[in-house]
Amino acid sequence: MCCDQFVAIGSNGSPEPLSFAELGQLAVELAVGAGQVAKQGRARGFRVDTKSSATDLVTEVDRRVERWLGAAIADARPEDGVLGEEGGERRGSSGVRWVLDPIDGTVNFAIGLPWYAVSVAVEVSGQVVAGCVHNPESGDTYHAVAGGGAFRNRAESGDVRLTGPRDAPVERMVVATGFGYDADRRRQQASALPELLSRIGDIRRFGAASLDLCAVASGLVDGYFELGLNYWDYAAGLLIAHEAGCASSDLGRRGAGSEFIAVCRPTVAVEFFRVLSDCEVDLPRS
Ligand code: IPD
Ligand code: CA
Repeated sequence: MCCDQFVAIGSNGSPEPLSFAELGQLAVELAVGAGQVAKQGRARGFRVDTKSSATDLVTEVDRRVERWLGAAIADARPEDGVLGEEGGERRGSSGVRWVLDPIDGTVNFAIGLPWYAVSVAVEVSGQVVAGCVHNPESGDTYHAVAGGGAFRNRAESGDVRLTGPRDAPVERMVVATGFGYDADRRRQQASALPELLSRIGDIRRFGAASLDLCAVASGLVDGYFELGLNYWDYAAGLLIAHEAGCASSDLGRRGAGSEFIAVCRPTVAVEFFRVLSDCEVDLPRS
């Protein structure tokens, strides 16, 4: 994306000028507002169900937060489309679409581990132009607008610009990753780890892909990779990582339902992506 201004179709059917920055501001307001709904819901107690497998959880709060987001978007921008993890899909007519993960890190949320986030990305003509990942428990709000840099906001320090990880060689990189909910997929993912662990510094598994991407953007870890993500898991976080100057790769993999992302500092990208490829983290041994 090269320019900040674009034209959307307004509610009266006529073109209206809008900027990515305005959408970015709304993304932050939505994620922070939804974070309050999530945090209050956790404090009050909630029912837990399963989805694709016994380990794939969804709580009534996930659904409540997505409904809250859908209603807030319909109120603010009724012509926009919505794609949400918990089924909240709405076709729009404005050229703008919101991509929502109401709670990323649902397992953490359900067991009381305060490491989960609301992820809100906004696309214009199919390209993510702004995004926000908000952890309601820590109060950290990560946000970016395409071409405008990435930031972490904390109440005590305001916006701090993010510049990606430290300059660590691949053999010392501390790398976040995650595992899917399907037992066979997990076996495949785990099969790459023995070799990988001998070639990098260490592995971390925090439990929320959106926050993993923000952890790379803010330099908490040196890299991240994961196979089998859903678009809503990474739509906002990947923009934030890119805007913090990080490099990314899908290692050329485009298998249906197997979205793969690796992210790191550009200076180690060629070598890091080669190591991931050698270890077959994107196409595990069967
Ligand atoms: C999950 C988390 C997790 C990742 C899984 C995702 P959810 O999202 O981001 O870290 O490893 O692949 O599905 O289910 O908590 O929204
Ligand atoms: Ca989720």
